[in-house]
Amino acid sequence: MSSFRRLLRPGAAAAAGAASFAASQAAPTARCEDKDPPHPPRYPFWVKSIFHSHEIPSVRRGYEVYRQVCATCHSMKQLHFRHLVNFVLPERRMKEIASGYDVVDGPNDEGEMFQRPGILVDAFPSPYPNEEAARYANGGALPPDLSVYTTAKHEGLDYIFALLLGYRDPPAGIEARAGLYYNPYYPGGLIAMPNPLHADGLLDYEDGTPSTKSQMAKDVVNFLCWAAEPAHDERKLVGLKAMSACFFGTAIVGFWYRSMWIGYKTRRIDFTKAVL
Ligand code: HEC
Repeated sequence: MSSFRRLLRPGAAAAAGAASFAASQAAPTARCEDKDPPHPPRYPFWVKSIFHSHEIPSVRRGYEVYRQVCATCHSMKQLHFRHLVNFVLPERRMKEIASGYDVVDGPNDEGEMFQRPGILVDAFPSPYPNEEAARYANGGALPPDLSVYTTAKHEGLDYIFALLLGYRDPPAGIEARAGLYYNPYYPGGLIAMPNPLHADGLLDYEDGTPSTKSQMAKDVVNFLCWAAEPAHDERKLVGLKAMSACFFGTAIVGFWYRSMWIGYKTRRIDFTKAVL
């Protein structure tokens, strides 16, 4: 080896070391922690950034997933069809969707309750008439109302996403009773909800996106997040405006302060005996 290359060697080693150090320091997008139950990985949901809004196309697809899959067991009582108008879907499409449901209304002139097609002011219909019926149909477990579920859970977006994709065969030593399913992200590891997104292509998205399991999970989580915080975008926008106003205000006041006081701060006053 020439003396020149020998000279280069430590330098190259140092460069390689620096590169591997940088790689080990770079924050991974998703990481798992050793906790029981495992903390869900931190997924890079668009909506998490302070500069980003809800991802509306995904929310729109998520509503389809909710309607066609989750709504068979989970209610969303705090949502009304009108809430989605012009945020998620145009008014005409929402009217169409609402009219696909039968809603009990009344009493009419004869004191009878009657059924009519849904209209925009109706709430999302619940799958079960009461808690007992819901529990009876689900082996004693109550499917929670999903209206504000992403905010109800710690790291709700990541948790629900990880939960929906976390179903697997129970490991050796864990017996899942009939009606319980193994899911490491659920506290205790056994959940009474059967894997709702068990196969790719469960539904056909209106916008033609391929409905893989992870796509459906992402979309439904985005929809649940929108449902829990419909005013989220406005809040962030107002926050950003207020922050930038404060920033410019501070800069202007700082400038004004310096120019106003510069004369006084640099002035020197000497008191000497008056010359008579
Ligand atoms: C067959 C009925 C059924 C379907 C369909 C269903 N769930 Fe569930 N879900 C349940 C039941 C039952 C529970 C309560 C589980 C328990 O207590 O062990 C539950 C619980 C949950 C929880 C709460 C978990 C927790 O930690 O408290 C979430 C979130 C959830 N479901 C989301 C969904 C989403 C999203 C969908 C649609 C993609 C869906 N579910 C579809 C029955 C269902």
